[in-house]
Amino acid sequence: MDIAEAIHNRRSTRAFLPKPVPKTVIENILDAARWAPSWGNIQPWEFLVVGGEALGKIGKDFCCRLAEGAKDNPDISMPAEWDEPYKGRYQQVGRGLFDTLGVARDDKAARNAHYQRMYAFFGAPAVIFILMGENLGRYSLFDCGSVTQTICLLAEREGLGTCVLAAAVRHPDIIRAHVPVLPGKKFVIGIAIGYPDPGSPYDKFRSSRVPLGEIVSWVDQ
Ligand SMILES: Cc1cc2nc3c(=O)[nH]c(=O)nc-3n(C[C@H](O)[C@H](O)[C@H](O)COP(=O)(O)O)c2cc1C
Repeated sequence: MDIAEAIHNRRSTRAFLPKPVPKTVIENILDAARWAPSWGNIQPWEFLVVGGEALGKIGKDFCCRLAEGAKDNPDISMPAEWDEPYKGRYQQVGRGLFDTLGVARDDKAARNAHYQRMYAFFGAPAVIFILMGENLGRYSLFDCGSVTQTICLLAEREGLGTCVLAAAVRHPDIIRAHVPVLPGKKFVIGIAIGYPDPGSPYDKFRSSRVPLGEIVSWVDQ
């Protein structure tokens, strides 16, 4: 698959078939993705691939936390507020997704069902968690972002769907309770990975992008 085609075709997959991804396929993706660039070649990332029973238990406990309305406690905190124009873009993608699903603004039950699915990794058979050293700062998130996109593009080439999920690392204590996690590491992000379900209403949603003219300035060009 051509690189531009992979970039264009990749999108967040939020419905997966209940079909496992062979370990060797994920292994080959990670083996290729570790060639992503990083500052000073420090390669701050480590991968934890969880599937099967363990992933089921983590998703179940995440959903219980959601139902309890418990506050999240990620290793890397998220901003509570977003300024414009970012806030508007964030709201637009949420509205677009719920419109596509036919979920009304005031339909709390349907919205909650969506968030339950999200906390259960949208049914993905595996999640690749990206971890980094606990003493590394926000600068290393740049490198983790680059390896994350590289993984998603390589997965695309394999006919796999991915969804980068902040929701997968909001309660890292739950992950640590179910899987042996390397000490001294913090959870950065999770990537749900699996075969997309083309029959799901989620599959009809496409996010947009601001036009290039709004985000580029040229000098002497
Ligand atoms: C750091 C990061 C965290 C994200 N977390 C979530 C998440 O928790 N839930 C979700 O449904 N999508 C999540 N996404 C997916 C974005 O919503 C998605 O990438 C964006 O809307 C653009 O759509 P596209 O991926 O389909 O091109 C996340 C993406 C990134 C890069």
